[in-house]
Amino acid sequence: MQKLVISGEKKICGEISVQGAKNAALPLLAGCVLARGETVLHNCPRLSDVYASTRILTHLGCRCCRKGDSVIISSDVISRSDIPEELMREMRSSIVFLGAVIGRTGKCCLSFPGGCELGPRPIDMHISALRQMGVSICEEYGVLRCEASKGLHGAKITLSFPSVGATENVIMAAALAKGETVIRNAAREPEITDLADFLNLCGARIYGAGTSTVRISGVEQLQGCEHRVMPDRIVATTYLGAAAITGGEVSLIGSKPEDIEAILSVFEEMGCNIYNYGDCIYMSCHKPLKSVKTIRTMPYPGFPTDAQSIMLSVLSKAKGTSIMVENIFESRYRQVGELVRMGCMIKTEGKVAIIEGVRKLYGARVVATDLRGGAALVLAGLGAQGETVISNIKLIDRGYEAIEKSLSEIGADIRRITEAT
Ligand code: EPZ
Repeated sequence: MQKLVISGEKKICGEISVQGAKNAALPLLAGCVLARGETVLHNCPRLSDVYASTRILTHLGCRCCRKGDSVIISSDVISRSDIPEELMREMRSSIVFLGAVIGRTGKCCLSFPGGCELGPRPIDMHISALRQMGVSICEEYGVLRCEASKGLHGAKITLSFPSVGATENVIMAAALAKGETVIRNAAREPEITDLADFLNLCGARIYGAGTSTVRISGVEQLQGCEHRVMPDRIVATTYLGAAAITGGEVSLIGSKPEDIEAILSVFEEMGCNIYNYGDCIYMSCHKPLKSVKTIRTMPYPGFPTDAQSIMLSVLSKAKGTSIMVENIFESRYRQVGELVRMGCMIKTEGKVAIIEGVRKLYGARVVATDLRGGAALVLAGLGAQGETVISNIKLIDRGYEAIEKSLSEIGADIRRITEAT
């Protein structure tokens, strides 16, 4: 089994390029199903979830290949409209294929996505929106059978919560539908804008992405194009957190400060100095970190839930008491137990976590419980005295391209090993 071994308390110092965003690449890969011809996605990260997505595309009839940092998808022929259970189980976010497959073929059959480490991941908003667009959906024996027998038509859809996945699925289902679709209370995440930019390059007519009202006028056909995946704002946050927890400094190349304003303001409140120039963010953290009164995770542009675990680790080395309120997922504190084993003083009660800053963290053998929780353990290991060994790191590999190589480039003592157990 592969593990990460970290020898802590080495200052992070240097500059690093930020990989393409997992949460942009996955909907972009799904969006390729809607377009005929060839699509080239540049800056597409080498991640297990991206590989799982290309396996789904191949199953549907597309041809996929990787050339360096680019993935090339030919989608002239979509010969199937089902996503097999083993592929759905491999990647819970495969649900993002639903809108594109129905949009292109008029039907889709997939197994109900299970929950995940973050708790149940319902899709009621996806289903309700697609039904309003003329899709009949029957759920039986864990399988979703979807069909738009008379073709998809536009609809006025109001989401009860600005769901990222539901917004993406409706945009993709609406791109080739008859008439206009309006999404109110749409998610505003930058990944939505990246998807809309890509589909508009393919010939779609999508307006207002990045705002809470998105309008899509359906077109006859889409044609593949070239597109560069946006930088990963959570990976960028992770590198900033590494600099903060070790009292170092880092320059992020190819990152977009406007995508992480809520996060940058938290680092500033902790006493870090930040300078943005062009597509680079420089942060130095040479003063002792200060606690932050309260952080609430919210839909974009609020503080992102994906940065919550990462920030728990950093706040553990800040002087004073900080409070985190997790408003998006119901069980996103599962990593706290392992952080406490490293000396973090974190107490959770429902949505709230109370973090007491400590002078020292201590290396330990710990287990990742989810993708971002695993990244939090890496940061705690970087800031801890002694050696930390992290197992179950396949969860980290879902979202980080060779995390040990990237962090080693900026001064971390971290390596990947294989152990029998
Ligand atoms: C996306 O998940 C991201 N995943 C998540 O990142 C991210 O945490 C999340 O958005 C919030 O920003 C991808 O983009 C692949 P939601 P998604 O629909 O689309 C509830 C990571 O670590 N909900 O915005 O599944 C849901 O249970 C991952 O990279 C319903 O109740 O998130 C949750 O409480 C983790 N019914 C809330 O809405 C629905 O039909 C937000 O979910 C849909 C969602």
